[in-house]
Amino acid sequence: MLDLPTPESLWHSDTETPDRQGQAPPHSDVLVVGAGIAGLTTACLLARAGRGVTVVESRHVGAGVTGNTTAKVTAQHGLHYAALGGERAMRYAEAQVRALDWVAQGAGSATDACGFERRDSFVYTTRADRRDDLAREAEAMQLAGLTDTELLDDLDLPFDVAAAVRLPDQAQFHPQRWLLHLAEQVEAAGGQVLEGVAVLNVHDGHNGHLLVDTATGSAAASEVRSVSAEHVVVATHYPILDRALFFTRLGQTRDLVVSGPVQGTAPRGVYLDADAGYSLRTPPGATDRLIIGGGQHAPGTRPDQERCFAELAEWAQDQVGLREVSHRWAAHDLTTPDGVPYVGRYLPGSSNLWVATGFNLWGMTNGTAAGLLLHDLITDQADPAQADLMSPSRVSADVVTGAVRDQVKAGSHLVSGLARAVTSGDDAADLADGEGRVRHVGTRAVASYRDEDGLLHEVSANCTHLGCVVQFNNAERTWDCPCHGSRFSINGNVLNGPATDPLEPFEP
Ligand SMILES: Cc1cc2nc3c(=O)[nH]c(=O)nc-3n(C[C@H](O)[C@H](O)[C@H](O)COP(=O)(O)OP(=O)(O)OC[C@H]3O[C@@H](n4cnc5c(N)ncnc54)[C@H](O)[C@@H]3O)c2cc1C
Ligand code: FES
Repeated sequence: MLDLPTPESLWHSDTETPDRQGQAPPHSDVLVVGAGIAGLTTACLLARAGRGVTVVESRHVGAGVTGNTTAKVTAQHGLHYAALGGERAMRYAEAQVRALDWVAQGAGSATDACGFERRDSFVYTTRADRRDDLAREAEAMQLAGLTDTELLDDLDLPFDVAAAVRLPDQAQFHPQRWLLHLAEQVEAAGGQVLEGVAVLNVHDGHNGHLLVDTATGSAAASEVRSVSAEHVVVATHYPILDRALFFTRLGQTRDLVVSGPVQGTAPRGVYLDADAGYSLRTPPGATDRLIIGGGQHAPGTRPDQERCFAELAEWAQDQVGLREVSHRWAAHDLTTPDGVPYVGRYLPGSSNLWVATGFNLWGMTNGTAAGLLLHDLITDQADPAQADLMSPSRVSADVVTGAVRDQVKAGSHLVSGLARAVTSGDDAADLADGEGRVRHVGTRAVASYRDEDGLLHEVSANCTHLGCVVQFNNAERTWDCPCHGSRFSINGNVLNGPATDPLEPFEP
């Protein structure tokens, strides 16, 4: 079995992210919340259009999913076009191609720094009974305007495939360096990118402006300030304001990644297994190393994350000759029932509150497409067909059925989590160093973790979003909520929404 290092993404480990701590100015034309790919793309475009833009980020540039992605930049998104079909597939393809072109153009001036490399993109199956599905996808992609798409019987991978769909001339890049490039572009166009500023809430202000409550500093000693903005863009991955009930129509998929040297020469394209979700690409400039994604599951539903990583590393060792795991990391992305992001007005009546979320594990192009569309909407140039396609208030049968299904799942986690907490009553004395468990004290569910020095850390196990019981993640040492994907540090601080408040302290 291969050894597993401490989790840290390759992108964070090889890149220095300069400090941009600051405080939001009293007023901005546009205040963008979140310095991931969606927020920084939006900010860059609007700053270049002459708007006074401020980006506020609670942690640091790339701290969210974009700094923990695998960064295949492609218009090919699994078997998506056949499912979308017709006009919607065409509009979706247009958005992806426009996004890829925009990245290619921007990266053109900074190609080396961002590790931008053209690659063919492949979706494959190892199952003969799935060949027809891939043939249908190839046809749907061609009809959607991706006319270079072709169906193949074989691939340059170290294992056999039953069929593959190839889309030439797509790309991969270094996502953290791309974000830093975008941040520099915002600043070069007169905007600001400020780290360590969390947005707590947004209200209506005077003259049609919005008032934004911001907090700087640690949770214990934070200073809350209200600033105003003509427009506010919520690009926080999970939208932080619950008022549009996004949690009822967003699912989550957690994806694990291992990376390291492989035997022989690494395959050159970017690849996705249509059935098991394994993905492959090389790190920038490398010919003998691979980045391998896989092990997808809903966050908080597989507490033994060490086992999940070990399974992925084992698969990579057997199938693509991984010799060593030099890096491993994980994150989760948000999914929408119809596989199209929510980009546009936060609520149907909002005139200046905007949102971008639900990129379905394809945020390199979808997050860029979101930035392009939000720029167009805010500057009154949007293509109505694109605005309708991604509208957060669209109602389709897929969206409604998927939302109901996700809520039934969340409800069952709530009930089973409470039952588990009640039945697994024990005290913390038998917790080994480095171990965490939810235990029951009276009527309370307690998230108990003993650190490597033997110190016990205990917080309430009830997620501050809607009360589900969190689960211990033994790889990253976090508390993960199985209902809507919130994640918390050992001391209860929020790492991922929709929760915005920390887990409550536990007083025995
Ligand atoms: C393992 C994995 C592999 C993937 N691989 C690919 C791939 O190969 N190709 C692809 O196209 N997509 C891929 N994706 C999907 C893609 O990475 C995401 O869709 C995308 O990065 C999401 O970007 P974002 O800007 O919405 O969110 P983020 O990058 O998470 O940015 C949101 C930011 O908002 C900040 N924030 C949150 N709350 C607040 C607040 N209250 N105040 C201020 N700031 C706040 C966060 O700290 C964060 O920095 C992958 C996803 C995963 C998990
Ligand atoms: S209850 Fe919704 S994320 Fe925990």
